[in-house]
Amino acid sequence: MTRIFSGIKPTGHLTLGNYLGAVRQWVETDQHRADALFSVVDLHALTVDHDPARVRRLSRQAATLLLAAGLDPALCTLFVQSHVDEHTRLSYLLECTASDGEMRRMIQYKEKSAREKAAGGSVRLSLLTYPVLMAADILAYGADEVPVGDDQAQHVELTRDLAVRFNQRYGQTFTVPRAVLPQVAARVMDLQDPTSKMGKSHAETSGIVYLLDEPDVVRRKVMRAVTDSGSEVVYDREAKPGVTNLLELLAACTDKDPGELAAGYTSYGALKKDTADAVVELLRPLRERHAELCADPAYVDGVLREGARRARELARPTVDAAYRAIGLLPAG
Ligand code: TYM
Repeated sequence: MTRIFSGIKPTGHLTLGNYLGAVRQWVETDQHRADALFSVVDLHALTVDHDPARVRRLSRQAATLLLAAGLDPALCTLFVQSHVDEHTRLSYLLECTASDGEMRRMIQYKEKSAREKAAGGSVRLSLLTYPVLMAADILAYGADEVPVGDDQAQHVELTRDLAVRFNQRYGQTFTVPRAVLPQVAARVMDLQDPTSKMGKSHAETSGIVYLLDEPDVVRRKVMRAVTDSGSEVVYDREAKPGVTNLLELLAACTDKDPGELAAGYTSYGALKKDTADAVVELLRPLRERHAELCADPAYVDGVLREGARRARELARPTVDAAYRAIGLLPAG
C-alpha cells in the first residue's frame, strides 16, 4: 500500500494556503487511498525566534484544526513530531551525508535567513539544517508520496537526493519519495501582495485568511484584496496576479477551472464577492467542528498519543537499519 507522509509546522495560525495547498488533499483523498501519516512538526518551529508557550499552544491548535478539517484517526495517523525520537535520530545521520552548499541553496533558507538578518537577529543553525530534518521526517516512514504545496517542492527534491545518495553509499535503506502538488491553489498568494505566498508567519496579516477567522473578517480581507490595473477579469499570473489569485481561490472552493471562471466575470467586484462567499462557506464547517473539539481536549490528546505510538513503531525499524548501514555499532 502506498505510504504518505506530510507535515505542518506550528509557527502561526493555519491559513487558507495551508488548507488548499495541502490539508484538503490529506482529508479528501490521501487518508482514504493510502497508509497516511500527518504530523504537527513542532521541532521545525524552533528554527526561528520563538515563544515556547506560543509554540505549545499552536501545536495543539494545529492538531485540533487538522481533526476539525476532517482527518480521521480511524483512517490515518496524526501525531506530534517531537513525540517520536526517530526524527532527530535520523536527521543526524542524514546531516552526515548532506553538504552545507546544498543547504545554502535552498530558497526558503535564503529568504528566511535574509529576513532574520534584516530584523537584526542571528540565524539559527537549525534553520540551515531544517531541510535535513524534513528529509528525516519523510524517509523514516518509507513514504512514497509527500503531498505539499509548491513552496515545499524543493525540499522534497533534496529529500530524494539524500535518499538516493544514502542508498548508493550504504546500501538500500530508504524509499525515494516524490512530491504531489494540488492541481489548483498549489501556491495561494497573499491578498495584499499577490506576488508573495500567503504565509502563516508573516507579520502583516491583512492579506492572510486564517482558518479560524470569523466570516466577516474573511469577507473583509477578500473584498479588500489588491487587484490589478485595468478592469478585465483574465486568468494570467504574470499580467494579473491579484485577479488570478482570486480566480484560483474561487476555483479551488468550487471545484471549477479558473480559466473558465474568468470568462463569467466582467468586474472585479463581482469576482471578489463570489470568492468571499465561497471561502466563508468552505471554512464554516471547519470552524464549527473546531469549536466542538476544543471542548474535548482529552479526545485530541488521545488521538495524538495513539498516533505517536504507531508512528514510533513504523519509524523505528527503518531508522535502526540506517544506523547499522552507516557503520554504527549496535547496542548489545
Ligand atoms: P508549512 O507548515 O509552511 O505548510 C504546510 C503545508 O501547507 C502548504 N502551504 C501552501 N500551499 C499553497 N499556498 C500557500 N500559500 C501555502 N502555504 C503553505 C505547504 O506547502 C505545506 O505543504 N517544511 C514544511 C513542513 C514539513 C513537512 C515535512 C512537509 C516538515 N517536515 C515533511 C512535508 C513532509 C513547512 O514548513 O510547511
